Amino acid sequence: MDRVLIVDDDSSMRYSLNRMLEGQGFLVSPAKNGAEALERFFMENPDLVIMDIKMPGQSGLEVLRQIKERDPKALVILMTAFGTTDTAIEAMKFGAFDYILKPFDIPQMRSLVERALEVSRMMKKMVSYPDRPEAEVTGEAIVGSSPVMQQTYKMIGQVAPTGVTVLLRGESGTGKELVARAIYHHSSRADKPFLPVNCAAIPETLLESELFGHEKGAFTGALTRRIGKFEQCHGGTLFLDEIGDMTPATQAKILRVLQDQQFERLGGSERISVDVRLIVATNKDLEKSIRDGSFRQDLYYRLKVVTLHLPPLRERPEDIPELVRYFLQRFGPEINRNVKEIAPRVLEKLMRYRWPGNVRELENVVQRGLVVAKGNTLFPEDFSLEGLAAEIDGPKGQMDFEERLQMLMGPVFKELAEHSKRSPDSDVMSAVEKVLIKRALQETKGNQVQAAILLGISRNTLRSKIERYRIRKDVAIIEGEE
Ligand SMILES: Nc1ncnc2c1ncn2[C@@H]1O[C@H](COP(=O)(O)OP(=O)(O)OP(=O)(O)O)[C@@H](O)[C@H]1O
Ligand SMILES: [Mg+2]
Repeated sequence: MDRVLIVDDDSSMRYSLNRMLEGQGFLVSPAKNGAEALERFFMENPDLVIMDIKMPGQSGLEVLRQIKERDPKALVILMTAFGTTDTAIEAMKFGAFDYILKPFDIPQMRSLVERALEVSRMMKKMVSYPDRPEAEVTGEAIVGSSPVMQQTYKMIGQVAPTGVTVLLRGESGTGKELVARAIYHHSSRADKPFLPVNCAAIPETLLESELFGHEKGAFTGALTRRIGKFEQCHGGTLFLDEIGDMTPATQAKILRVLQDQQFERLGGSERISVDVRLIVATNKDLEKSIRDGSFRQDLYYRLKVVTLHLPPLRERPEDIPELVRYFLQRFGPEINRNVKEIAPRVLEKLMRYRWPGNVRELENVVQRGLVVAKGNTLFPEDFSLEGLAAEIDGPKGQMDFEERLQMLMGPVFKELAEHSKRSPDSDVMSAVEKVLIKRALQETKGNQVQAAILLGISRNTLRSKIERYRIRKDVAIIEGEE
């Protein structure tokens, strides 16, 4: 269970945060000043700290500095009233995860906490692979003994300690993020932070400032200075996911950081030096993006020096039995199911299937199987593979671009018109995205793996868009049926 430390001298704030976090199922410890916070931090080793800046005695900033000195990977969210915003911004340079302005609303805080804890899990949950199995029991593992996977393990072992930039390529669900974390955990920066940024989930116009920060007044709406991820992650590892989705301007800046370890904040002239290791991933055809002018060739050459290609699951069906066993072991205990065996017929079927969603899809299928299984063996009926095969392997997985477009776009205009009546101020771009995502979820009965395939984006991107637009997955389906 995740543990959260709340630090605030205001008892009503401690009380309401405590209630909120306990409601989310976290273990909460309260502290009313800096000294108490430090004591509890080192005793309890919490996964997240939420701390007020202005407190009698040591300020939150001072406590942050001390925490970070001892544990650079510690995740700290600072709370600040308007007067102290500047301090909070500067705190990002010391590696605060984020700051939030008081007063805040509960959903805002809740989603910030969830994001922070996800990053905390990524940093703490060790990812092992067969060449380096030391963490098998506690963490996650990369599984599979096919020759291509063995090649991958060798590469991970070679590149992890060097600090070079690594480019991870492969279809959605092939394990790019998992490999990125394995490289991090086995690098010399393993005791420093790891920050993931999903480039596709952040609107183009904001990505550059998210990564490099901006100065006050750099553009309309830039009311205060902002510290970007590169600065925040100084000394650590930055994982840029979906790197194929950046504008050429942002690409140019990334190239410069790679070459000189330097950049300027947007609208700023101060040259900032950082020491950040980059791991980047994409499922896009970068060569094609270069041809159509959306990806810079110079950056491409710089990135591709060390490339790991993660093979689609259908090209290594021999890994499937091992993966199924691994997922049974991993998820069985979580839901109190002790399933040990799989009927041979099932395995055979799983090995013949095309797996357009790759290992992620297999993982979902096994989880579903575990839930419906009755004894300690999985049978074909537990997998509803027939349905699955008919749905994706048949039509959706093989549909070409135009067919998918037709399936999604048909009713979209009507829905957009409805949408614009409900919220006349929304911008067209996000309205279209929102409606398209809803359509895809309806079309796939809420199955996110299939919806992502239909939309031609990765599951991660889909997930963050669903979060950003606050699309309720269940409601999407019901709304469609009214
Ligand atoms: N070889 C593997 N062994 C065990 N689990 C795996 C393996 N490959 C992938 N997984 C699991 O499958 C899921 C998807 O993996 P991951 O998120 O790394 O894919 P991805 O390539 O980043 O996909 P996307 O492009 O959609 O972001 C994760 O839950 C991951 O733990
Ligand atoms: Mg990913």
